[in-house]
Amino acid sequence: MQSPKSNIAQLRKRFSISQWIASKVPHRKSPDVYRNMVKSYYNGPAGWFTLLSGLLTGHEVLAERVIGPNGFDVRGCKKVLDAGTGNGRYLRVLLKQVDPDAELIGCDLSIGMLRRAHQRLKSTRPHLLTADVTRLPYQDATFDAVIFGWVLEHLQEPLHGLRELARVLKPGGKLLLMTTEHTVLGAICSRVYHCRTTKRSELKEVCRLAGLTWHRERFWTPVHKWTGAGGIVVELHRS
Ligand SMILES: C[S@@+](CC[C@H](N)C(=O)[O-])C[C@H]1O[C@@H](n2cnc3c(N)ncnc32)[C@H](O)[C@@H]1O
Repeated sequence: MQSPKSNIAQLRKRFSISQWIASKVPHRKSPDVYRNMVKSYYNGPAGWFTLLSGLLTGHEVLAERVIGPNGFDVRGCKKVLDAGTGNGRYLRVLLKQVDPDAELIGCDLSIGMLRRAHQRLKSTRPHLLTADVTRLPYQDATFDAVIFGWVLEHLQEPLHGLRELARVLKPGGKLLLMTTEHTVLGAICSRVYHCRTTKRSELKEVCRLAGLTWHRERFWTPVHKWTGAGGIVVELHRS
């Protein structure tokens, strides 16, 4: 028989506001149906909306704070992947931060998003390709660094995606992971983008299973840290 304490914990979990608000779509669809839904969703106007929401939430500007010498440092990295690059928000920053001889690659499931990235970056330097982050067309230990921003929430099996990224990272390589947290705000975002939310403690365990060490958590600003807004931003290292 369960103790009253654990019964209360279970009830809390079941009836938490975040749980109640969070989108159920990723849990209800089959993997192929969900992947196609995500693809056509981002091919359409929602893909355009990511640029507007980036401006409204400040993420377009904050991207410059998180990638750089005082944050996720890409100096010395010779091959860098932006997995699920979207409209190229982080590729734009990477173009300024990586060494002149570094190779930059951006991949995405949605061709519409890659077109947006291409138009926005106005550079032929990053190599853009359609690819699923759970099945990357790269050999083991290819990349020195990977950016994985706001994509994990679209994977029904996060461990598959993180294992794949760990596979293509060189030993000692680094990964900047940003994902929607299981908070009320995160749950509202999950409704808009039909994605999952993640609990920090559960993510830590999934990263460990994928062979990625939790190196350093980052917060966009002190306000984000105090309020718990801004999602989970963490630098992981391939163990
Ligand atoms: C919220 S956007 C984030 C884009 C970009 N990383 C950013 O932060 O601006 C999510 C992106 O992930 C892409 N995506 C979702 N599932 C994917 C998958 N399995 N493989 C590759 N890209 C995926 C979507 O097409 C979309 O462009």
